[in-house]
Order: sequence, then structure tokens, then C-alpha cells
Amino acid sequence: GESGYRLWLRYDKVKDPALLENYQRMVTQLVFPGKSAVLNAAKQELKLGLKGLLGQDLNAAAVSPTLSGALLVGTPASAKAIAALPLASKLKALGKEGFLIQSVQVKGKATTVIAANSDVGVLYGVFKYLQLLQTGKPLSNLNISSAPKIQLRMLNHWDNLDRSVERGYAGLSLWDWKTLPDVSNPRYRDYARANASLGINGTALTNVNANAKILTKEYLVKAAALADVFRSYGIKVYLTARFSAPIEVGGLKTADPLDPAVRQWWKDKTTELYKYIPDFGGFLVKANSEGQPGPQNYGRNHADGANMLADAVAPHGGIVMWRAFVYDNKVPEDRAKQAYSEFKPLDGTFRKNVIVQVKNGPIDFQPREPFSPLFGAMPKTPQMMEFQITMEYLGQSTHLSYLGTYFKEVLDADTYSKGKGSTVARIVDGSLDKHSISAMAGVANIGLDSNWCGNIFNQANWYVYGRLAWDHDLQAETIADEWLKMTFTSDSGFVAPVTQMMMASRENVVNYMTPLGLHHIMSEGTHYGPGPWVNSAERPDWNSTYYHRADSAGIGFDRTSKGTNAVAQYAAPVREMFEQVEKTPEAYLLWFHHLPWTYKMKSGNTLWNELVDRYYFGVSAVQLTRHTWAGLEPHVDAQRFKAITALLERQEQEAKWYRDGCVLYFQTFSKMPIPAGYEKPA
Ligand code: GCU
Repeated sequence: GESGYRLWLRYDKVKDPALLENYQRMVTQLVFPGKSAVLNAAKQELKLGLKGLLGQDLNAAAVSPTLSGALLVGTPASAKAIAALPLASKLKALGKEGFLIQSVQVKGKATTVIAANSDVGVLYGVFKYLQLLQTGKPLSNLNISSAPKIQLRMLNHWDNLDRSVERGYAGLSLWDWKTLPDVSNPRYRDYARANASLGINGTALTNVNANAKILTKEYLVKAAALADVFRSYGIKVYLTARFSAPIEVGGLKTADPLDPAVRQWWKDKTTELYKYIPDFGGFLVKANSEGQPGPQNYGRNHADGANMLADAVAPHGGIVMWRAFVYDNKVPEDRAKQAYSEFKPLDGTFRKNVIVQVKNGPIDFQPREPFSPLFGAMPKTPQMMEFQITMEYLGQSTHLSYLGTYFKEVLDADTYSKGKGSTVARIVDGSLDKHSISAMAGVANIGLDSNWCGNIFNQANWYVYGRLAWDHDLQAETIADEWLKMTFTSDSGFVAPVTQMMMASRENVVNYMTPLGLHHIMSEGTHYGPGPWVNSAERPDWNSTYYHRADSAGIGFDRTSKGTNAVAQYAAPVREMFEQVEKTPEAYLLWFHHLPWTYKMKSGNTLWNELVDRYYFGVSAVQLTRHTWAGLEPHVDAQRFKAITALLERQEQEAKWYRDGCVLYFQTFSKMPIPAGYEKPA
């Protein structure tokens, strides 16, 4: 059945007979002489794809094109016929991982060449080539070249050693720690294939709320077995380092980063680790946040902690990804300000192989947040993006919310840190401040579910994350279109309406959950379902009331200079925009301002009516989505059609649940009526 297991790598036979015939003529011979593990993986993929898409079983025996329609694949080192082509200057511009796909003539034979400087570049080129076939693109006169804008394109798995997944909504962890290293589940390879098809080249296997046991020999050999599978797909393994590991698994009395014995322990541990995983990528660390241990336990700062680990991995070429997601309920300051307050003063004090990993917004992966003020505020320190693919706060695995528009909104935001055009994307790719390392991480939404992601549409979020990590200039819509064609069909009667559905979907979620800049008003703990009334959480900064501040006078969090002055953390033009209520985009209104219920909105509505409008609009947009989908049955196999239908029905019910919970709760403060003509809350 169509469980969705094959993701976007379906390789079903091309349906249109004319197109199929054309493709078959364009691909008659495979010239692919290289033999490294990565090239073998690429070759295997290409053969699998061509067999499925075109029904052609090509061997790769020839060393040079002898037929028109040859496909010549490799690096100048692996294929003499490529070295003989005048591609040197083009290849030079592609760097380590880029590739080109070009229509050329080799001794009078029409040939398509897929070439790169490295084996992994070839692998990426092969996936791109297959994508052309999967999406019905012409194969003649090709002149494609592509190179990643960001070096380290990471997935972060919040996977525990007992196989539970923190904020995972797609089943247990893929990593079967019990049977590793002896059993290699074929799924490990399929996971690597899917990632490589997007250019993802790093995976942090374990939860940021880390268990020190992962650093023991027992587990390192298991992680090494995964690394062995992933290596052929250009993917490096990273692990999370629990800061107190020297105590917990090292038997030391302290984890003080300035203590020589502690430093030595990490050096020795790292050396041991590299024996098992010679190309280990490095450590990802959550420290002094939400109760996790860290350098501050010893009166040291984040740089002291990060630098100790950086010194341990440096001789092996490793790096440290040190998270800036820090806040503490004992600090009275506005939570939105804490990361900046702790990290900004440390700019310039981190080692060269440390990169600070910053969540997209200053709170926590809300349906919408302004960009984190840390972006651009530490020009001497490389900063990487952390996005959350797993949609903890956006309906998890039961709401359709395409994150392409979300990620783009953040990446395109202008920080003005070095004047106009200082976008978040340019900070993250290292170009603005000329950094030698750059990275992006996505918190994975992958688990053992047969469709990997809890529902088919969430596969698009894994996909779009990877595509944007490779090239943040791509458009969300282009990527949705690509994904739909690869995952479902190229039929425009399907692709056009569903692309629209996807493009609108995240804004719908914002509307029925947290319109106008509201945030963190979900159910406590699970973050699923409405919870604006949450007021006695374990910690005050987990209360919804802390964030929405609704009272009889109005609603919203005053973060202007008259409030917590969080706006001061932004560069001047951004600060001035958020400081002034008239200049603040309405999408962020209640993030920065506390306003009366009768405040007049741009639409002419009162704030109350506008808020109610948004909540209702969110629900009706989901209804519309469901209707659109209902008309698409002829284009989709029954199994996936049914699964998505059920999903959308549930989303509609739950959108009402959020809407009614929030509207009725806020009404107890506004004391204003729900405008006439609206369905009564249930
Ligand atoms: C969120 C999430 C936690 C997670 C944390 C983090 O707060 O709810 O489960 O550990 O983010 O990113 O560290």
C-alpha cells in the first residue's frame, strides 16, 4: 500500500507516454566508473531511479560515452572522460559539495554530464538529476550548477536512549540502541538517502537534554555503526554532550570547565570517540537551560564551557554547537531578553570551532515569533539557525502546516545589524560577518511511523528544511511544488490547488492559535491544545498569563521602552519599528504592545473584533482546505487520500477547539460580544 514510506523518492514510472519516450531516448547509457563508497551509493541510487522512472536497467560498464544519450557521472578524479571535458573553471566555482549537470557533446555523442569536485557532490548531483525526471523537467540543453550556501546542514534528533523522542510525534526513535551495533536496519540507509537527497550532511543523534551514557563505550560503538551507514551518504554524526558527564560517567567530583582534570577527561573522551567515529562532527550542547547542568554551576560562563569542549575536539577537526536557548525562572528579566543578555557580552571570546546555535525566535518555536535579537548582535561569533521541524507548538503531527513560509519569513527578516540587507540568512550563511563556518539545524520530525513524520504533509517540512539549508534563496512555493510532484503527481489539477493549500496553511495555524503576536498560550506541558488560562505552571515563565497579560484594560506584552524594553536588543531601525505601535506590523502587535480592547486596528476593527476575526478566519480557512482536498480524490491513491482527509477533519475540529478556548477565555477580560453572524463557540 501507499504508506508514504518512500517519501519523495518514489521513482514510479513516468506516466505521460510522450515524456517517457523522450526521457528514454535521452538516457541510453550509463558511464559511471568511480568506485568509492559514496560513488557506489550514488550509482545505486541512479540505477534505482532510472529503473523505476524509465523502466531502464542500465549497467555502468562503459568508461566513455559511446552512444547518444549517455549519462556521464563522476569527478575529474574518478572519470577520465570528465577530466577530459573543459569544466575546470565551472567546477572550481562549486566548492567541495556543489555539482553541475550539463548537456555536452563527447566525441559527437549527446551526453549529459553530472560532475562535481568530490564524491558527495556527485551524489547530490545524482539526486538533482533524478528530481528533474520526477518533476517532469526537460533533459535537453541542461546547464545547472548548484552549491550549498551553508556548510553544515544538520538535523537534530531529540531522541533518548530508551527510544522515546522528546517532542516527537511520529513514533519511537529510529535508532534501535538495543540491537545496535549488530543489526543494521535497512531504514538507517533509507534515512540517509532521504537526507542526502536534500543535501543534509550532519545528524545529531541524541536529545539536547542529554544522557551522559551516550559517551560510554557501550553506546559509542552503536553510534559508530550508524556513522558507518551514513558516511556513504556524506552524513556526519554528532552527539549531544551532557555537561556533567565527567561526574556521571567519568567518576570525577566536578565538571568545572577550568579544572585541569575535567579538561583532560574531555580530551581523553574525545580521543576515544574519534577512534570509533574517525569523522565525528562534534558536540551539540544545551547547558544551563531548563535545569540542564552547565558552566554556570561553577561560576563560569558559556564561553568557558564551549571552549573547553572546542579544545578537546579541535585536534580532530570537530566543532562545538553551543545552544543559546537559555532562560532561567530565577532571573526576573523578560524571558525573551535572556539569551541576548547572556550571550552578547561573550562575543569574541569563543574559540574558532564554536558556533552558537540560536532558535529562530527569542522564546521557543512559537507559530510566529519575531527573529531572535541575537542574530547579528554577535558579529565576531558564527551563529547558526535552529528551526524546529517537529511542530511542537503548531499542532504537532495532526495539523497541516507547511513550514516553508515560516522558515523563509525568518531567513528573509532584516536585522539591520550592518545596515539594510543584513538578513538573518546572511548572518547564518556567514557572508555578512565573513565567518569560516556556517550551519543550520532543524529539530527532526522523524520517527518509526511508516510514513516517517506522523503524516504525509509533515514530510514536506523535512523536505523544505533541507532545501532551504542548501539554498535559502529558494522560494517556499517552488519547494512545495517540487515536493508535491515528487510525492504525489505532476498533474497540475492537483499541484496548483494543493500548493495553495500548503502556502496558506501556516498562517491558518497562526490565526486559530496565536494571532496578532500572541504566543505561548498552549496547553501546559504538552503544548497541544489551547491553554491561555494556564496560570499555575511549575514555573511562572511557563504560564500563559505571563505572555498574554490580558486584563480588563487590554491584552499583550509591553516590550517597549515603557515595558521590559526587549526592543532595545534590536538594531536601531528594527527597534524603532517595534517601539512604536503604529509602525509595528500587526503580526507582531501583541508581542510588543499591551493595547486596549478597543484599540483601533488598520482594518478599522477594534482589537477585540480583529482578534475574534482572526480566530474565526483561521477555522474557516481550514474548512476551505478540507473542501479543496475533498475534490482531489481522483488524483490521489485511496490510502493517502483517506489518511489526509481524516487529518483535515481532525484539524478542523481542533482549530475550533483552539478558537473557542481562546476567544471565550479572552472574552472574560474584554467583556465584549462576539460579533454578530459568527457561529457560537461550542
Ligand atoms: C522546548 C521544548 C523542550 C526542549 C527545549 C529545548 O522548551 O519544550 O522539550 O527541551 O525546547 O529546545 O531545549
